[in-house]
Amino acid sequence: MRKSIRTYLLSEEEQLVQPSPYTPGETAREIPGRETQLTDITGLLGRVALEGRFAGRVRVDVGPRGVGKTSLLRRAQRTAHDLGLASVFVTAGNGTLTAVIADEVHQLTRAWGHGDVLTERVSQVKLSAGVPGVGHLELTGRQRPAPEATRAFRELIAHTAQAAAQDGDHRGVLLLIDELQAADPDSLRTIAYAWQELQASDSPVPAALLAAGLSHTPDVVTRAVTHAERFQYRPMRDLEPHETREALTAPSAALGVSWTTDALTAVVERAQGYPYFVQVYGDEAWHAAGNPDAGGQLTLADVNAAQERVEVDLTELYRTRWARATARERDILTAMANHPEGPVPRRAIAERLRVGTTALSMARQSLLDKGILDAPAHGMLQFTVPGFGAYVRSLTTN
Ligand SMILES: Nc1ncnc2c1ncn2[C@@H]1O[C@H](COP(=O)(O)OP(=O)(O)OP(=O)(O)O)[C@@H](O)[C@H]1O
Ligand SMILES: [Mg+2]
Repeated sequence: MRKSIRTYLLSEEEQLVQPSPYTPGETAREIPGRETQLTDITGLLGRVALEGRFAGRVRVDVGPRGVGKTSLLRRAQRTAHDLGLASVFVTAGNGTLTAVIADEVHQLTRAWGHGDVLTERVSQVKLSAGVPGVGHLELTGRQRPAPEATRAFRELIAHTAQAAAQDGDHRGVLLLIDELQAADPDSLRTIAYAWQELQASDSPVPAALLAAGLSHTPDVVTRAVTHAERFQYRPMRDLEPHETREALTAPSAALGVSWTTDALTAVVERAQGYPYFVQVYGDEAWHAAGNPDAGGQLTLADVNAAQERVEVDLTELYRTRWARATARERDILTAMANHPEGPVPRRAIAERLRVGTTALSMARQSLLDKGILDAPAHGMLQFTVPGFGAYVRSLTTN
């Protein structure tokens, strides 16, 4: 295979080497194992782009930290662009979400020259969201957003979709929200109500909303919004062995490098299908093999040579998570670590700590928000990262 000059970097020895094609801690471009999600998302976006329809359902892909949610959303964004949709990507948790969206819409539409109407809509959304310095409107109760806020947001989306078609040379607009579980409740309500009302517009609004969040996102949304039937949750799972193999072989094959079967088998076993670990192993094996040239091969010896570096990486990941837990939270983590692997009933933890389950609820919520624990089913808790239980045991038995 011929290599383009851009696939080379200078190493310390000033030799030309191929940089690792693996992406630990960065969004993955190729996302094996997510074919079903991509088919569904492409169908949803296609109806907006090709038939000018409004996507009334809000699709939310949920799963633990590091499972690949952001990578999936970014991939959906590329699909949207291929279909001719404009897009706005925001990450919740940093300010009032509707205001953040309004600002991003402003950035996007500036180039379209639609001018005053949209600028006006943007300020209306911020005003009605009570953003400091922009003014404040009273909200009318816990479960309903102020009608002004809903109207402003609804009109912002409708005008943006319209402007996209008229001025922006697009077919509609896609809104993407990452880390939905971190959104402020007021914004969640505003968005949910606006989305419901947009469905009833006289002329269809070519717009779609895709989101992603940690596994407890449905609880967060239901707590904020009583009518959230439009939100459809789709759990994301770890990779199957053949998907892990593909995640390892496709990026290297693009650079002319292959894997031996026993090397692949070793990583499949050790990464346990957790996408982040797959990337760490791939990356470290690549370096252990000395950044191979085209025609090179990654072997079991390389994987074994990489093992120590991988463990340093993973221990660092466990260490930072443990450091972020409070004393009460650490009690819970320790109780869980002393349980057999897999989901642990909340009741079992309470019994071990000799408290009632309600006494745990604040710490539990905080551990979910931090992404250290996951609630795979009602009343159950689980570590989000494989190997964390063993790490906690190693700390507490010393
Ligand atoms: N389908 C996949 N196959 C292989 N690796 C993947 C896949 N999806 C994501 N990854 C890799 O897994 C890691 C986590 O991906 P990503 O950041 O998308 O996950 P996330 O669920 O958004 O995590 P977080 O909850 O921490 O934001 C990254 O290193 C990424 O490159
Ligand atoms: Mg993410």
